[in-house]
Amino acid sequence: MLISVVCVSDRCSRGEAQDKSGPIISEIMSPLAETEEYIIVPDEIETIKETLKFLCDEKKSSIVFTTGGTGFAPRDVTPEATLSIIDKSVPGIANAIRQKSLEITDMAMLSRATSGIRNQTLIINLPGSPKAVKESLEFIIPVLPHAVEVLSGDTLNCGGDYK
Ligand code: MTE
Repeated sequence: MLISVVCVSDRCSRGEAQDKSGPIISEIMSPLAETEEYIIVPDEIETIKETLKFLCDEKKSSIVFTTGGTGFAPRDVTPEATLSIIDKSVPGIANAIRQKSLEITDMAMLSRATSGIRNQTLIINLPGSPKAVKESLEFIIPVLPHAVEVLSGDTLNCGGDYK
């Protein structure tokens, strides 16, 4: 499985801060997937949209993870960029992350993260902090191999005895 990681942060894009969350995503996913692209972009909706389209349409990543820009700050637009370029919404993944995260912190209510499908790529918004990224990924990792399998057209294992 090939994945891509997009860090959405004005400060990281200007070199004023170091992104810790992107490398954590690659590390947590490494038993399952290789990170083919790791891109840092500012909180600019057009740049985020073009980057997501490039990773889905040209790179054909199985999953694109974004980190950051999901909250209430005036420049947070990652969910809006994602929603504007997806073909299908996948509310279950974003909802599961929020619901399970609420057991850890009420602050999870403040993430507007979304998930969706463009062509054969699953896009998943994660919050920006390394702690939030770790927690969120742990919740959804068990479903990702089957999600990618079905997305690629292989439905043979659907209807199995999943717990
Ligand atoms: N989700 C989990 N699991 N753990 C966290 O610590 N932090 C929250 C939330 N989601 C958090 C979390 C906080 S403090 C914010 S402001 C929002 O994610 C949005 O984060 P972002 O703007 O960095 O994307």
